[in-house]
Amino acid sequence: MKGISVLGSTGSIGIQTLELARLHPDLFRITALAAGSNVDLLERQVREFRPVVVSCSKETSAIELKRRLSDYSGPLWIGHSTEGLERAATAVGADLVVGGLPGSIGLRPCFAAVQAGKDLALATKEVLVMAGKLFMSTVAREGITLLPVDSEQSAIFQCLHGNRECEIKRIILTASGGPFSNFPRERMERITRDETLNHPRWKMGPKVTVDSATLMNKGLEVIEARWLFDVPANHIEVVIHPESIIHSMVEFADGSILAQLGATDMRIPISYALAFPSRINSGTQAVSFPALGSLNFQMPDTNRFPLLKAAYDVLEQSGNASAIILNAADEVAVELFLSEKIPFSYIPKIVLGALNRIPPIQVETLEEIEAFHQQVVNRLRKDWAAAVTG
Ligand SMILES: NC(=O)c1ccc[n+]([C@@H]2O[C@H](COP(=O)([O-])OP(=O)(O)OC[C@H]3O[C@@H](n4cnc5c(N)ncnc54)[C@H](OP(=O)(O)O)[C@@H]3O)[C@@H](O)[C@H]2O)c1
Repeated sequence: MKGISVLGSTGSIGIQTLELARLHPDLFRITALAAGSNVDLLERQVREFRPVVVSCSKETSAIELKRRLSDYSGPLWIGHSTEGLERAATAVGADLVVGGLPGSIGLRPCFAAVQAGKDLALATKEVLVMAGKLFMSTVAREGITLLPVDSEQSAIFQCLHGNRECEIKRIILTASGGPFSNFPRERMERITRDETLNHPRWKMGPKVTVDSATLMNKGLEVIEARWLFDVPANHIEVVIHPESIIHSMVEFADGSILAQLGATDMRIPISYALAFPSRINSGTQAVSFPALGSLNFQMPDTNRFPLLKAAYDVLEQSGNASAIILNAADEVAVELFLSEKIPFSYIPKIVLGALNRIPPIQVETLEEIEAFHQQVVNRLRKDWAAAVTG
């Protein structure tokens, strides 16, 4: 039986991971859970899955969880903050860690998991965006198995399985296009928070949903794919595929293109990562091709969605400081948009402005990467706090 530690257990990836654990109690046991502040759900998860380590983002939540679990019997360490996340990521008995934290918060625990020799099912693409080279060299040094959870990266990973030695001509990343792919530029000025959070195909956490609407998510995935599969950016192509049935494709030297298809349901890539190299029932519905009728494809419009091009530009730079700026600026911009302090159209302005204004510096270690990220976040939060208060 595989021991699983779930980072971000109360979020979209975490909940679906636990659904699969519930479906396969003979295959998976939950060793650790880490979440933010949703103590209600975390309490229920602890009672159902009986982990030995549980962590919340804040001390107050951990105290509340301890109070609620005062009648709970069984070994359980309850912690919080960075220490709690790292304890969950390295818990004794965990064979596989599911990295389902959003954004930069996932960086350190994912490194901790790999350094502790755990296999990692990685959803947090920001780890590879911020620290791709360092992370992949750590994965190679520790000899762990890195399993992508992002549906596109999982599709590519599946297409490459058994074909690792073959020359890759092209990786074709598919994108749903998000809710605004057909909006004219004038309409994009009036996009609301609710419209943005209403993704046509996927139900995901708020940060990745906003990133899908700006196509920043696809840009982050281009960077993620570059590091995961060691393929240069000019061999990675993005194509809009509104039905989201083909999750991505790989073209090999002979011109053959392999694709992975399936329902628009994250339980497919999550189950593949949990059970790799086996395949297990993921509980998803079958795709009906007659009901679909046709599959459509179009080029992304990088004039209306400039953040996709920005991700390619970042990969042209030496070092990863520009990718850190891109990612940090996007985190700040999405935070401002979700709190309704800026309109949708300001998200690319903030990110592109940061890339123009903030000089990249050389960063190599995990500490330097974290420090530079925080420096960019602090600077932008300060600038924009002043701007939005007038
Ligand atoms: N959702 C998808 O379908 C999908 C698909 C592909 C890739 N991804 C990637 O997967 C990652 C997670 O996405 P998601 O959609 O699952 O996010 P989400 O629904 O927003 O969930 C985030 C999880 O992280 C927890 N969390 C937030 N801040 C924390 C902190 N400071 N300390 C500890 N825990 C914290 C949340 O806890 P509380 O809710 O308890 O506060 C929640 O459990 C992202 O990098 C995303 O790009 C997601």
